Amino acid sequence: MWSGQHLLSMRDADADQARALLTLAHAGEFDPVALSGRTIANLFFEDSTRTRVSFSVAAQKLGAQVVDLGSSGSSVSKGESLIDTAWTIESMGVDAIVVRAAQSGASELISRHVKIPVINAGDGMHQHPTQALTDALNIGRSHGRTAGWDLSGLRVVIVGDVVSSRVARSNVGLLTALGARVTLCGPSMMCPDGLSALGCDVVRDLDSLVPDADVLMMLRIQFERGGGARLASRRLYHACYGLTLDRASRMKRGAIVMHPGPMNRGVEIEGTVADGLTSVIRDQVAGGVLVRQAALRTAILDR
Ligand code: CP
Repeated sequence: MWSGQHLLSMRDADADQARALLTLAHAGEFDPVALSGRTIANLFFEDSTRTRVSFSVAAQKLGAQVVDLGSSGSSVSKGESLIDTAWTIESMGVDAIVVRAAQSGASELISRHVKIPVINAGDGMHQHPTQALTDALNIGRSHGRTAGWDLSGLRVVIVGDVVSSRVARSNVGLLTALGARVTLCGPSMMCPDGLSALGCDVVRDLDSLVPDADVLMMLRIQFERGGGARLASRRLYHACYGLTLDRASRMKRGAIVMHPGPMNRGVEIEGTVADGLTSVIRDQVAGGVLVRQAALRTAILDR
């Protein structure tokens, strides 16, 4: 999971390393000056609300300073490469780089050219490791699995535009490493059978999965990655693959609803379900800060 000091991917996730981060995040007992005198650079070349702000909040809660850079307003807009940008930031004495980019593999590429820790905050359709850790934290907390983070016996159903989703790929890697059974569900254009190569089931019929799922994780249709072109009609999609109030009423007792955000309310999830009692969507956001505190602390002080 850790690649040296870098946190890049949940593919072939290491369960022991994940448990260590989850235990640190769950305890939430961070020294507020742990990263005093350190500087974290947020390089966000693609839009973000949750990840960008939570990394900033996490760094500040550990006593670090944060510098924020996007493609607009930086020399990336003049054609400077991501590698040259990262190298420039490193030369200024920054202690770690958090990267979001539209290009799959961007964080790994940058990590090969700098000597400071790189944390992948989402790269194209590839990976979003701290989102998966956030989701595992909330699944463990909701289902009483925080002692040991053993998720065996839990069935996690990830629904929607899976093919576009770095969140889904990261969650399959991490949650299966922790013992959960993961099933991907969606229309074939968004959830092709070949995704079973990730080590999970692929099922078309959402209604057959709802009563047995311990976790229903709904995914946003990623219109910016062509998800809209894979959609015949929003209304039909909502009827077949949306988490409607009627569908949610068939979930078993104790099952939870998740969504990494941002949500298309009324498309992949009905607003009343997103705001309902079984939803842990706001807890996911809150847990994101704890996970990013754990990731930054570990990357800078322990690796
Ligand atoms: N879940 C997530 O990555 O959200 P943002 O795009 O707002 O960071």
